[in-house]
Amino acid sequence: MTIEPFKAVACIALAGMVLAAIPVSAQSSDVPHIVSRNGRHALIVDGVPFLMLGAQVNNSSNYASALPKVWPMLDRIHANTVEVPVAWQQIEPVEGRFDYGFVQTLLEQARAHDKRLVLLWFGAYKNTGPGYVPDWVKQDNRRFPRMKKPDGTDHYVLSPHAKTTLEADKRAFLGLITYLRDHDRQNTTILVQVENETGSYAVPRDFGPAAQKLFEGPVPAKLGRKGTWAQAYGAQADRAFNTWYTAAYCNALAVAGKAIKPLPLYVNAALSDPFKVPAPTAVASGGPQQDVIEIWKAAAPAIDFEAPDIYERKSAKVFAYLDAYRRADNPLAVPEIGNAAEYARYAWAAFGRGAIGFAPFGMDDTGYTNYPLGAKTLDDATLDAFATPYQVFAGMQRAWAKIAFEHPTWGSAKPDDGTPQSTTLGGWKITASYGEWQFGHRTDTWIKSEPPAWASQPIGGAVVAQIAPDQYLVAGDHVRVDFTPGAGAPKNALILRVEEGRLSPSGFVVDRVWNGDQTDYGLTFVDRPVLLRVTTGRYE
Ligand code: DGJ
Repeated sequence: MTIEPFKAVACIALAGMVLAAIPVSAQSSDVPHIVSRNGRHALIVDGVPFLMLGAQVNNSSNYASALPKVWPMLDRIHANTVEVPVAWQQIEPVEGRFDYGFVQTLLEQARAHDKRLVLLWFGAYKNTGPGYVPDWVKQDNRRFPRMKKPDGTDHYVLSPHAKTTLEADKRAFLGLITYLRDHDRQNTTILVQVENETGSYAVPRDFGPAAQKLFEGPVPAKLGRKGTWAQAYGAQADRAFNTWYTAAYCNALAVAGKAIKPLPLYVNAALSDPFKVPAPTAVASGGPQQDVIEIWKAAAPAIDFEAPDIYERKSAKVFAYLDAYRRADNPLAVPEIGNAAEYARYAWAAFGRGAIGFAPFGMDDTGYTNYPLGAKTLDDATLDAFATPYQVFAGMQRAWAKIAFEHPTWGSAKPDDGTPQSTTLGGWKITASYGEWQFGHRTDTWIKSEPPAWASQPIGGAVVAQIAPDQYLVAGDHVRVDFTPGAGAPKNALILRVEEGRLSPSGFVVDRVWNGDQTDYGLTFVDRPVLLRVTTGRYE
């Protein structure tokens, strides 16, 4: 990368990137909501885009006694939002008697700690099973029937076809949403997850008589296919059928919930291999995996987005998930990702793809770790890995969310094989490469070096946003970002200026200019939270 000499600039220069007012959708009120335009999305909170720097607590941290172990962890990693379960068994332990004590405590403590909330409705489905339903539901298989296996015996999952289950689950869910309407006027809660990892393992659908009759009937017209489920979906028929009815179940909760308070609602998926069509018995059949998003969209239009729970360490698969869930009709968000250090770099990949939120799972100090899904221990190195990208975004979360809604962005995370990743933005080829010191190139022969420690580690990533035809924002950790003129660049293109600074609500504030060693070998980010603005130009 070549840097032209430049004149000193004022220490503080408010740049031309003034953030124009955002059109908020017609439903506009102060209630958080999602807006979509030109294939990009924003989560609107308090009337402006919000970037969810999230963390999810462990499953059993949905009690007041656990909360003191939560807030310091969020501060430690610069998270602005916490995802916490609210369980049906917790708010309706006795049928018809509701207790919102924990919800109230959570709202108050979140406000006191300046955090936003995502509430996870653990109703009939928690990792497919009914573990979080009240005892009076668990024990009454006549009113709240489990699915039937092909041999007529009970399967562990509650049937999505039972109206009684739906109505009881919905009543409790609506109790929660009503409580938020009445006690959360300030919208501390910005999103609600409907159920948790729906579907059914091992048995792909309900084989009970009523379900069987439906299965033998025609597929709903909204699916745009003809014939019976078997005719329309072949080997995936059982799964497509269960997906439709599970999505319709969640949609019923969502429609009724939105009528009370129109919060954005989403569902999360227990994922399957992104490169294979899953065997219906080997996946959480019915859940919103990437290959059945169309069915969810058709059956559950009141759900704002389907989202991936990522516990896959292979980078190619993580990128495939991010790409599959980032759609013009589906805002990308990662409501769960493993909390081992190696997952932290995917925050760059997700936010660079325009994600509205990201949340490592199991982020509290209750002493529980879900290794091998996540970290063995939340030691300093692990927490720093998440804190570094979060600190960069925390300093500009509103501005970044707006930029990602309005401008092209790109994100890279170090792939498993460490090879560079590139994109083209505004005619410039932008390359993220990994395992470089800040000075020189590891391939230099004029001076030899040992590889840095991070060269062999799964850490590093970057984001780039093109904020004007000739201007880019760049951030990252353990990565080198190079700009080279591509085919679309003007003749005699050059990098004019690289500035380190901050995004304020009114624009970019320059703290200093990078030049010399800091730019001669590319823009190399290590462990400091740094934001750069790159201005390109040409000479005549
Ligand atoms: C995904 C689920 O959604 C979470 O609630 C949790 O069970 C993790 N798996 C595993 O720790």
